[in-house]
Amino acid sequence: MKRTRIVHILNSGEIGSKSTVMGWVRTRRDSKGGFSFIELNDGSCLNSLQVIADNKLINYKDEVLKLQTGCSIRVFGTLVESPAKGQKVELQAEDIQVLGWADPDAYPLQKKRHSFEFLRSIAHLRPRTNTFGAIARVRNAMSVAIHTFFQERGFIYIHTPIITGSDCEGAGEMFRVTAFDLDQVPKKNGHTDFEKDFFGSPSHLTVSGQLEAEIYALSMGDVYTFGPTFRAENSNTSRHLAEFWMVEPEMAFCDLQGDIDLGVEFLKTIFAHILENCEHDMRFFNHLMDSSLIENLERIISQDFEIITYTDGIKMLSKSKEKFEFPVDWGSDLQSEHERYLCEKIFNRPIVVIDYPKEIKSFYMKVNEDGKTVRAMDILVPRIGEIIGGSQREDDYDTLYQRIQEMNLNPDDYWWYLELRKFGSAPHAGFGLGFERLIQFVTGMSNIRDVIPFPRTPGNVDF
Ligand code: 4AD
Ligand code: MG
Repeated sequence: MKRTRIVHILNSGEIGSKSTVMGWVRTRRDSKGGFSFIELNDGSCLNSLQVIADNKLINYKDEVLKLQTGCSIRVFGTLVESPAKGQKVELQAEDIQVLGWADPDAYPLQKKRHSFEFLRSIAHLRPRTNTFGAIARVRNAMSVAIHTFFQERGFIYIHTPIITGSDCEGAGEMFRVTAFDLDQVPKKNGHTDFEKDFFGSPSHLTVSGQLEAEIYALSMGDVYTFGPTFRAENSNTSRHLAEFWMVEPEMAFCDLQGDIDLGVEFLKTIFAHILENCEHDMRFFNHLMDSSLIENLERIISQDFEIITYTDGIKMLSKSKEKFEFPVDWGSDLQSEHERYLCEKIFNRPIVVIDYPKEIKSFYMKVNEDGKTVRAMDILVPRIGEIIGGSQREDDYDTLYQRIQEMNLNPDDYWWYLELRKFGSAPHAGFGLGFERLIQFVTGMSNIRDVIPFPRTPGNVDF
């Protein structure tokens, strides 16, 4: 079925030209003069197209007057100049065909504003609202911008596995993958006999593509992954998902400073791209969520990010008068409340925190000369906290072997990762960006469940 997308009509439709459009009715208003206005949206842009249906249409009485929010229709007509403010054209219908009715007593979306909580329960219909349509378009534009950013810089896109036998973060927060009948799991000496399972050994959904990205970085130089990752952590917060998308560049012949530089340039480039390419949707979020959203992004693009050490961060937090829920002491991880305090109250901008204690970071980070801290870098932003987590990687075989043991992991599970440090090892670094946190930050949406089409969180796997 050939059709013109509404975005093209609103941007460049020529008065007098004929068009066919298809979409879903937002509202219908009837005028006393014997015609109706139908607002039609097809998801291609925020704005709807105004369709004028007059009573000369053969199905005006029987069908057009019964159209309700949610019905899908096909309209053929002529573009005419619009007398209404804010739109140049409207479509004078010559033929309207109803493709799908929507019973107004049963259809859950109405013209009024619904709460985000309610909309989560109808994830099959929420993309038909302004907010979720805008999020889907921003998410799409952001994905393209991410690929463009890396492609323009010569990075190779690598598909790392989703099913894995190793735990990248070493935190044990993984979903198991099995083909066993869970009512009849084979046992050996009282334990599950994984030799009989599909892969012949325990397997899980990946928490990160980093370890495999390192393999390719140490062959091809600069690479990146962009894929789904899974975490079985029981965190019911506005920033955690059990399934989320991560962007992970990995660069050979790169140190911590190079890693920070790329992360900062990456964020600024994506922000600039979205402001330029999603102007309407961004103005909508600016209006809906936070009237300084666009201004803040523009400010961030033009500012330097502050770089501080973890140790200095702890000192600043200890000196502050703020009452934190979690303790502030050297050796404890920064909680979101601490991250936000540093960004929002102390620096009023995004910051990069480096050199964390090795005990609270993953085994693969390069140990500093002090023997206590690692070359980690987290990029923190106002409102969200950590958005990027990265590091220079340990490239020395013996130190890495020791770190794996210290963290109570089994070196045998990481044999190939260790071997990369035996054969042509090189300094290398990378980071992981939480894609949904990035969208939260850009759109001002407060809950991460609303920036992914189908959120997976503890207790929720619907749709
Ligand atoms: O800091 P993380 O755990 O780092 C890694 O996984 C590294 N292997 C990345 C690398 O160096 N290649 O996670 C990276 C980012 C975090 O900064 C955060 O933005 C996001 O992933 N993230 C989550 N986003 C949503 N829900 C969760 N449960 C998340 N956990 C981490
Ligand atoms: Mg992290």
